[in-house]
Parts: sequence; C-alpha cells; structure tokens
Amino acid sequence: MNGKAFRISYESVHPGTAYTDITFYNDIDSLFTEAPLCGGSAKRLYVTDSHIAHLGAVQSFLNKAEKNGHASVIIRQGEIYKTAETLCTVLQAALNAGLNRTSVFTGIGGGVVCDICAFAASVFKRGAALELIPTTLLAMVDAAIGGKTGCDFANYKNAIGTFYPARRIYIASDFVQSLSEQEFKSGLAEVFKTALLYDKHTLRILTEQQKSVCSRDKKLLSFIIQQCVKAKAAVVEQDLTERSHRAHLNLGHTFAHALESVCGLGKINHGEAVAWGIGRAAQLSFILGYCSAQYRDDVFSVLASYGWCTEKHHSALDGIENPVKALLNAMKQDKKNSTNRIRFVLQRSVCSTFTEEIDDTTVSQVL
Ligand code: GLY
Repeated sequence: MNGKAFRISYESVHPGTAYTDITFYNDIDSLFTEAPLCGGSAKRLYVTDSHIAHLGAVQSFLNKAEKNGHASVIIRQGEIYKTAETLCTVLQAALNAGLNRTSVFTGIGGGVVCDICAFAASVFKRGAALELIPTTLLAMVDAAIGGKTGCDFANYKNAIGTFYPARRIYIASDFVQSLSEQEFKSGLAEVFKTALLYDKHTLRILTEQQKSVCSRDKKLLSFIIQQCVKAKAAVVEQDLTERSHRAHLNLGHTFAHALESVCGLGKINHGEAVAWGIGRAAQLSFILGYCSAQYRDDVFSVLASYGWCTEKHHSALDGIENPVKALLNAMKQDKKNSTNRIRFVLQRSVCSTFTEEIDDTTVSQVL
C-alpha cells in the first residue's frame, strides 16, 4: 500500500479546495521521506503540538524543513488548547514567517492540530493551501477527513469554524503504535461509529477480532483505517457542507458534545464521550421504537467489551448539579438544531440511519 492514493472530489467552497488527494504510507519514515512535503517554491508553515514535535521522525523532518527556509509553530497539546488564542498563535506565526496566499499550512498531529491548522489556513489572507498529516487514530479516521475546521469557543465544542478541505492528506497508520491507550481508544470510538453507520465488515472485525484490534495489529489497523477513510470520503464527496447525509457522521455526538461541555472541555476525552453518546443514541432509538432491543443490546455489548460506559449516568458527571438539565441545555446549543427541539442521529439497525428532532421529555428518559 505504500504510496497508494485516491482522490475525493466535491463542490468547491474556496479556490483550491475542490479535491483532496489522500496517500497511505507503510510507515512514518516512508511518509516523511517520500511525501512531497517541503519541495517547490511555496513557503510552508508546519503546525504541530508539543507531544508530536518530540517524535524522532517529526523532529528531524522539522529541522530539515527549517534549514530549507520553512517555518514551524508548536501549539500546546490537548482539547483545552483548542481555542481562539491558539488559532491566533498559528496566524501570528504565519505572518511572522512571511506566508502569503500561495503558501502552505501543514498540520502534523491529532484532531486539535488538524482542526486548528485547517481553520488558520482557511482564514489566512482568505485561504491558503492546506495539507494534513494526522497522527492519531481519531484524526486519521475522522478529524482530518472532510474539511471541517474550527475551535471551541465559550465552552462549546467547535463553536466556530469553517468548511475547508485539505488538498492533500498523508496517512501512516504506524503513528497509532505510539498513542497512549486512552488516545487509541478515543479513535476506536470513531471507528465503531463509522462501522455502525457504513461498514458491517469493520463492525465484525471490532467484535470478532477485539484482541488483535486492542493489541494494535499493524495490518489490521491499517486495513481498518483505510476502510474508515473510504467510508467517510464517500459521504463528504456527496455532502461536504452537511446539508443532508453528512449529519449521520454525528451519531452519538449530540450526547458526546453535551457531556464534554457539561464536564468542562478536556476533562473527558472525545472518544469516551462519543462511545457513551453512541449508547445513548441506541437507547433513544429503542425507546422511540425505531430499533429492536436486540440491536440496542448488540451496540451495548460492543461498548461494554471495549470498556465504555453503557449507563445513563456517566461517571464524568459525578458532582454535577442536575446533570440531565445541564446536558439538555448544552444540547440546545448544538449547531445542528433548527428549532428548540434537539436533532439526533438515530438508527434502525446497522447501516440504517436517519435524523429526527426529539422533545426534551423523551430525551430525558435516556439521560
Ligand atoms: N466528525 C463529523 C464530520 O466530520 O462530519
């Protein structure tokens, strides 16, 4: 698969954002030696975080790039730094380095780095070129793909942002080997979501080959990542700006974003919150009569087997006063609502998904 590439094409929302070329590499060294990451005459700004910058391959690549006249900026690691201040740090670094509209922003990192770097590229002089090297499982299967950029604002997840697809994405699934257990599991929650939405084969892998998945079998993970990338690519190719089916990718996320906001952004990792949200969405689908008890139980069984919460009350809510009310209030801030009712992604079964606005009383039953 080294150098294996494919293209997603979609309506262009900005000049230079009509397609994304995605290339998969066998390993991290091949990516940094073979990907066209610092050639050409365009000036480049590499955006990474304090954790990734210290990985050997990244450090030596950045040293080489700086010797070639390119610039880099290292942002602080973690969701709590996914802020407008960090965005400004990146924009200031771009200005200091003398970037212009023909320059390239390259994000090397997880979801926070990819989202912030892409947001900065999208607004810098009304749009500079963007390339991404996702280094977490979550960023490879979700955050880097499909052009959503942004940062948190006023304690709401991704409250500000743009649609601005990267022109190139380079993926080396080996980065997954260096993730903490928590980060790895966070990405697995998005894999589970993608499997429930689009991919029975990956769902079978998650259920039947759990040991190999959890021990990060390289071949298996590389396959899973490619499956998820292709599934998401097919969706965003049809509906980049989330006017219809892309909304399904938010399965579990209305619950998850509310949980993250209520607990305080960064207190619970995104994947843990998404996994809980997937369980809540299954329970909501069940009490509304859309899915069978069997399907709900199957979803719960995978969640439980990976150690995720299947209860109404997530322990992260301990100590929160009136958590149900707090969660409902947070859900009402969601960008996806069009009325005062809250819009949820629900399922009839695997690969059968729809959205519906639900009243608070019904939602409260699953919280
Ligand atoms: N993470 C959901 C989406 O990209 O639409």
